[in-house]
Amino acid sequence: MKKVIFSGIQPSGNLHIGNYVGAIAQWVKLQNESEAFFCIVDLHAITVPQDPETLREKVLDTAALYIACGIDPKKAHIFVQSENPDHPYLAWLLNCITPFGQLERMTQFKDKSKKQQEGTNAGLFDYPVLMAADILLYQTDEVPVGEDQKQHIEITRDLAEKFNRDFGQTVKVPEALIQNETSRIMSLQNPTSKMSKSDNDPMGTINLLDGVEIVSEKVAKAVTDSGTEIVKREDKLAISNLLTIHSVFSESSIQEIEKEYKGKSYAEFKKGLADLLNKKLDPIREKYNSIREDVKFLRQILDEGASYARSKSSKTLREVRVKMGLG
Ligand code: AMP
Ligand code: TRP
Repeated sequence: MKKVIFSGIQPSGNLHIGNYVGAIAQWVKLQNESEAFFCIVDLHAITVPQDPETLREKVLDTAALYIACGIDPKKAHIFVQSENPDHPYLAWLLNCITPFGQLERMTQFKDKSKKQQEGTNAGLFDYPVLMAADILLYQTDEVPVGEDQKQHIEITRDLAEKFNRDFGQTVKVPEALIQNETSRIMSLQNPTSKMSKSDNDPMGTINLLDGVEIVSEKVAKAVTDSGTEIVKREDKLAISNLLTIHSVFSESSIQEIEKEYKGKSYAEFKKGLADLLNKKLDPIREKYNSIREDVKFLRQILDEGASYARSKSSKTLREVRVKMGLG
């Protein structure tokens, strides 16, 4: 039996190298050896205000980017969350066993609700329960994500254990798959804050679809630490972050890169990193441009993905309903 892998990204913006390094690069490897589901989580995206037309386009942008990054629709199932109604259905059922207090402790909720000016909606509060539903519907073994999602996987595990305890063994308790070294790529402008789609300073984030010049400019203008050494160390957060990015894209160890740049300047290192990123991002940009306009092709992949996903999720949902005395 192949392991089941499930993960998702919100279609709320351009994907960046943090998403690639923390999540998608792992997905590309895992798709060969497992039954993989990669979801575009549009129901999560609407927990903050979205323009409807833009959202529709971003779903297709994200599908094209998944494929451009190396997700192979012949191996993995790519689908849109809102196209499988089992997700919000299971979320409701799980809501009814979720302790309110545990949701109040979620750091992502605390951060995001602080940012919302006109009061927080119930969907944002409930976000982790929908995420638990996403994962549990597929009897998932492993969830490859960046470090910021750890708390959400923990609540997913708690809910799975609670359900099994209260109603009898029904859902698999999943494991988080978090790459230690690379699970948290920091902003190029502020190495103490995470690289993020919602960063106010666009210079802090390298998007996968940024052009060659923009990538070079962002790397050149990245903040650095005092001193001149190119080493990964706790007192050198900015250079450490750049080394981590280099290491993932060059598939070399940090030690190898430190050796390569020993005695060289920050400027030389940044030039090397920018060239490396452009070399690696070029084929992604090219592939993206070649498929993004082919809406029929993308739709077909998403339709097939949703229909396969439903064939799997409906079994779990039926069992959960029966156990709870519904239907
Ligand atoms: P999001 O952009 O929040 O939808 O995140 C999608 C995926 O990318 C999740 O698995 C995140 O954990 C991961 N991710 C987002 N930002 C970063 C980052 N700066 N470093 C590493 N992984 C990240
Ligand atoms: N919450 C995740 C994020 O913001 C996205 C997500 C939704 C997800 N459902 C998921 C990730 C299920 C893994 C598994 O990054």
